[in-house]
Amino acid sequence: MRIIQISDTHLSPDKAHFVDNWAPLARWISDQRPALVIHTGDVTVDGADVSEDLRYTAELMRGLGVRFRAVPGNHDVGDPGHNRQPVNEARLQRWRTHFGPDRWIEDVEDCRLIGFDAMLLGSGEREEAIQAEWLETAMDHAADRSIAWFLHRPLFLDSPDEGDTGYWSVKPQARAGLVQLLRRHSVALVGSGHLHKAHDFMHYGTRYIWAPSSAFLVGPVMQPPMPGAHRLGAVVYEIHGSTIGAQIVAVPGLTPHWIGDVAEGVYPSRRDR
Ligand SMILES: [Fe+2]
Ligand SMILES: [Fe+2]
Repeated sequence: MRIIQISDTHLSPDKAHFVDNWAPLARWISDQRPALVIHTGDVTVDGADVSEDLRYTAELMRGLGVRFRAVPGNHDVGDPGHNRQPVNEARLQRWRTHFGPDRWIEDVEDCRLIGFDAMLLGSGEREEAIQAEWLETAMDHAADRSIAWFLHRPLFLDSPDEGDTGYWSVKPQARAGLVQLLRRHSVALVGSGHLHKAHDFMHYGTRYIWAPSSAFLVGPVMQPPMPGAHRLGAVVYEIHGSTIGAQIVAVPGLTPHWIGDVAEGVYPSRRDR
C-alpha cells in the first residue's frame, strides 16, 4: 500500500504566496495513486487565528479525492505557551471542525500509523494529558504491528539527549517521555515536518524522516545550522506487511520560494516560521 506524506503547505486564500505550488503537488499526488495522504502540519499560513485559512485548505485537501489524515502545526493551532498564539481549546476546536481529530490511528497491513498533536506537548492544556494516555494505549494495543509516528515538530535535531532547541524541536521534558515510549515499543519510524528541510536518518533502530515542505525554504538568517537538505518535495511510503519503505522525493513543478523574500508580507513582524 502506498501512502504519501506532505507537509508545510502554508496555504491561505488571502496570503496566496505559495498557492502556486498546490496544483503541481495535487497533480503529482493523483499520479501516485496513494491509498492515504498524511499531512504533517502547517497546512495553513495562519489557521491559528484565521478560520478562513483552515476552511480553504481543508477544501483543497478534500479536492485531492484521496482519503487524508492530518496533524496540526504551530501555524494551524498555535504553540505551547506562545505569548500571542498559544495552543488552546478554542484553536483545537477550530482545527477539528475543518480537519477532524488532531490525533488518529491508521492500521495498514501489519503496521500501525499513529498521528498526534505535537503542539500540545508541554502546553499544560487539559488535552495534553488526555493525548498522552491515548498514545500509551494506542501503543499497548498495537500487538505485533510495526509502529510509525507522525507529528509536526521533530522530537530532536541531532540527538534525543540535546538541550532545548527553542522553536525547532520538541522540548526536552516532553521529548524524554516520548523517547522512552518509542524505545519501549521499538517504533520503526517517526515522520515529522516543521523544519522545511529533507532528512532521512537512523537513530537507535528508529528511522527518522523529516518531510520537506512543498511551499518554501528557510534560509540561514531565520534558521540555525542543523542537519537536512534545503529542498522541497514529499515522502512516498510503501507498506508491505510489517515493512515500511520510505523515500523523500522531488515533486515536479514546485517553485522553490524562500520565506526570507516574502516574510514581511506573510508573517509580518515575526521571526517564527
Ligand atoms: Fe512550516
Ligand atoms: Fe511549523
